[in-house]
Amino acid sequence: MRSVKSRVRSWNTVGVRLTVLCVVLLQARVGWSQEPAQPRIDEEFAKQEKIYRRQGAGSYTANRGLANYAEVLPSGFCDALGRLGSSDRWLDIGAGEGQAALDYYAPQGDAAPEKCGRSGPKARVVAISIEDRRTDKWKRQAASLGDDRMRYLSGKRLSQYSLEELGKFQIITDVYGGFSYTENLSRFLETVLSLLEPGGAFYTLVQGVHLENGKDKPGSWYQTELVDAAGRDVKVCSWLKKTTCVKVGCESNSDWDSPTEMINIRKVCSDVSVPRMKLLKYEAGNPPGRRFQLEP
Ligand SMILES: C[S@@+](CC[C@H](N)C(=O)[O-])C[C@H]1O[C@@H](n2cnc3c(N)ncnc32)[C@H](O)[C@@H]1O
Repeated sequence: MRSVKSRVRSWNTVGVRLTVLCVVLLQARVGWSQEPAQPRIDEEFAKQEKIYRRQGAGSYTANRGLANYAEVLPSGFCDALGRLGSSDRWLDIGAGEGQAALDYYAPQGDAAPEKCGRSGPKARVVAISIEDRRTDKWKRQAASLGDDRMRYLSGKRLSQYSLEELGKFQIITDVYGGFSYTENLSRFLETVLSLLEPGGAFYTLVQGVHLENGKDKPGSWYQTELVDAAGRDVKVCSWLKKTTCVKVGCESNSDWDSPTEMINIRKVCSDVSVPRMKLLKYEAGNPPGRRFQLEP
């Protein structure tokens, strides 16, 4: 027969073991949520690939025109586009069907309701998209303009192009393109800035972020989250402003469905350095949910 004392001792041992087990499980869970669980992330990347390839009903919006770009990009975009000369270059990253470029090159007096950047000479346009979404209209217009004035490149992501392949640009835009979809935001921005001529500007937006002006509506849902090494929230504009050789302007918009930052980044010198971030979470979507951590 075991004594009461020895039974209590064995219960204590069980208790200690259970506590240790709980702590180990809890740590494993915390670690799982903070570090990229590679197999799961790979599944999300595979799902995202399918989203890019989906055509027809169920596909994402890929035909926003220039009027739409004017609405969602920061003020100053249309004027900057209008100031470009015929030897200047505009890169549209994540161009989808390239409708914005088509509108830009539409003949004067055409039905296009907006005048964004449409008077005067036209710059050359390069539109890039992961998947080829060129329409017949694009093919006809590009062929009629000739001389490589409208180029469409697909089959690769922005960061997979070399500077020699793309050349340099005075204006770069990204409307719900790579900036909203990439799993490597710092490398993406580095590539964008390497393609900009000094004095040139990058116009983009990102939805579901902590706003620079702090006017996010209570209960907002955050789709792109940035945290520092200690796990504290970092605003996307604060991160951008740590980049060297750029001037960053942020127009916070809390009236839309999700808090959105309209961003203008002007390159002012060549020695650009973008603070690195690592990916903590990626959930495939339209756009995907992402969580990045600033490297110390
Ligand atoms: C939702 S569509 C937006 C299309 C267009 N800008 C519009 O507003 O209608 C997303 C586009 O971004 C492209 N994209 C996403 N990530 C990209 C990347 N890293 N490099 C180049 N294109 C990318 C997709 O292939 C697609 O053309």
